[in-house]
Amino acid sequence: MKRIKLIFIIILTIIIAACSNNSKEIIVSSPDGNIFAEFELKDGKPYYRIVKNNEQIIDFSQLGFELNGKTALNGNFVIKNTSESSFDETWEQTWGEEILVRNHYNELTVELQESKGEQRLLTIIFRVFDDGVGFRYVFPEQPNLTDFEIIDELTEFALTEDSQAWHINAYKGEYYENLYKKLPVSKINDTVSTPLTIETGNGHYITIHEANLTDYAAMNLYPKNNSTTLKAELTPWSTGVKVYTRAPFATPWRTIILADNLNALVNSRIMLNLNEPCKIENTDWIKPAKYIGIWWEMHMEKSTWSQGAKHGANTNNVLSFIDFAAANNVQGVLVEGWNYGWDGTWSGHGEQFSFTKPYPDFDIKKITDYAAKKGVELIGHNETGGATINYENQLEDAFTFYKKYGVNTVKTGYVARFLDGKERHSSQYGVRHYRKVIETAARYQIMIDNHEPVMPTGLQRTYPNLMAQEGVRGQEYDAWSKDGGNPPEHTCIVPFTRGLAGSVDFTFGTFNFTNPVNPQTRVQTTIAKQLALYVVIYSPLQMASDLPENYNGNSAFEFISAVPVDWAKTIIKDGKIGEYVVTVRKDKYSNDWFMGAITNAAARNVKVDFSFLEDGKKYKAKIFKDAPDADWKTNPYAIIIEEQEIDATTVIDLNLASGGGTAIWIKAE
Ligand code: NOJ
Repeated sequence: MKRIKLIFIIILTIIIAACSNNSKEIIVSSPDGNIFAEFELKDGKPYYRIVKNNEQIIDFSQLGFELNGKTALNGNFVIKNTSESSFDETWEQTWGEEILVRNHYNELTVELQESKGEQRLLTIIFRVFDDGVGFRYVFPEQPNLTDFEIIDELTEFALTEDSQAWHINAYKGEYYENLYKKLPVSKINDTVSTPLTIETGNGHYITIHEANLTDYAAMNLYPKNNSTTLKAELTPWSTGVKVYTRAPFATPWRTIILADNLNALVNSRIMLNLNEPCKIENTDWIKPAKYIGIWWEMHMEKSTWSQGAKHGANTNNVLSFIDFAAANNVQGVLVEGWNYGWDGTWSGHGEQFSFTKPYPDFDIKKITDYAAKKGVELIGHNETGGATINYENQLEDAFTFYKKYGVNTVKTGYVARFLDGKERHSSQYGVRHYRKVIETAARYQIMIDNHEPVMPTGLQRTYPNLMAQEGVRGQEYDAWSKDGGNPPEHTCIVPFTRGLAGSVDFTFGTFNFTNPVNPQTRVQTTIAKQLALYVVIYSPLQMASDLPENYNGNSAFEFISAVPVDWAKTIIKDGKIGEYVVTVRKDKYSNDWFMGAITNAAARNVKVDFSFLEDGKKYKAKIFKDAPDADWKTNPYAIIIEEQEIDATTVIDLNLASGGGTAIWIKAE
């Protein structure tokens, strides 16, 4: 009897110990101690929450997966082990909005195992930074989970406040080419893309996105039952399955930036830090650049991509663009419509595209020889019409062909409702294709400008040859959209939404705002705002989209010619999402600074100080500003260009016209 009692006591002690191990608080804090993530198992189900400055930002939220033909991987768990570690390093960007990035976090690894059945394993890793949290799932190698199909990722973000969220629909528009709307989270009633930026009641910001999207589907979000709980929704394959995979495997990171102001939001580097370090050994060939192109004229219907009397990519036309680039500090000339495949319907039917066969009036040898003599590079263009199989079959040949002619940058395109007739661009199918192109291009030392992409997730840290991506409703809409073009507020939203996912190939710089063949649309800005956008919307590849004939003789072009595309530092001086933005950036290769200030349709006065300048040093500011009577609707071309000596104590009133802006080149003397 005594023995039985003893065994009973021992068993009880083990149970209590196990319970207490599983119920003790499992917390990991940011290095500055202001933010913590907490993990908890409730009845065997995994949850996390996030707290900043004692305020719960995300309440206990579900984690886990539903798998095809298997029991869901989200219950019956016990904690096998937890461990913590810290990390602090500073790494250098090949290009970027700043040079050095600090990667400083505390990490918590929670190893879970099912207590019954197949006793499958799932590990969750949290990294808590001073500016937010990242977490990912890891499926360790295990006997009872080898090949499997994810049919739902159960991750939730249970926001504690019903704040305003800037969002675009994930599926209705194409490749994120939508106008952002603002609604309280619970009212969104839609599946939306990330980055999703939320403005909290106390003027802070939360941005939910992801990092290192590798062999997985992009994450979208929807508010569960019209509540403030956002649930992950992975873009499906045409089969309905979200992800085909096998253990061992790690998902992308789910990222949550917590920022007290817009400057902190834009300067958060969580997404980049959660990507792997650069895999390209020698990056000397990767060069940020400005470019012009045989491009806007096609969107304006002055010339065509296809062959015929108006064919844009003809040798003489390209040579004249090269002359303009050489004379104006523009390093590249993009040429679209140079190769067989454009005649007939190509959008969604790209199988006929050849990536090595130029049209007869495009003499690539003559063009590239001439460009090389002038110190300019041809920028290649591979539009696939969404036919990725056709492109992959020709990929090596396409890049070999371009390299033979000294072409080091290629713009890719995927205009089609679905890739290869059935798969979404943001599905695992699309993600696999885009990665193949980036990796292959890296082998050929080719830089990529990816149009119609999956939303960027910071891969440019690992592959800095991924220069820019579209994934935005860009300037081309001003040439032909049925709804009148991008409204003035659009560019006041992009830096804080899509812009947080990485460089944006928006292609501004238009100086002629109307289109005779599409009179319903126009560029809804002033000239000064077109200039300011080069500072406000970041990319290491920036297009001057208009035709040389519209630039020649216009003194405003001096700003585009001077503005750098690679920066040492970025500061958001002022702004309100959707209303106005004042951004300053320091050139990476000189002591010059550049300021871009833009507004929505409301004219406004914004006072800016220059306290970011070196104390006691004098600078010459060349100011490109809206004339007093400028207005995007009635007088968009009215600009004043003037010079003023400034220093760190100067304060200037920026009078921004309706749809206007100010661009300032601050030259160190
Ligand atoms: C859409 C792209 O965004 C645009 O830049 C390009 O000119 C056309 N597709 C044709 O490839």
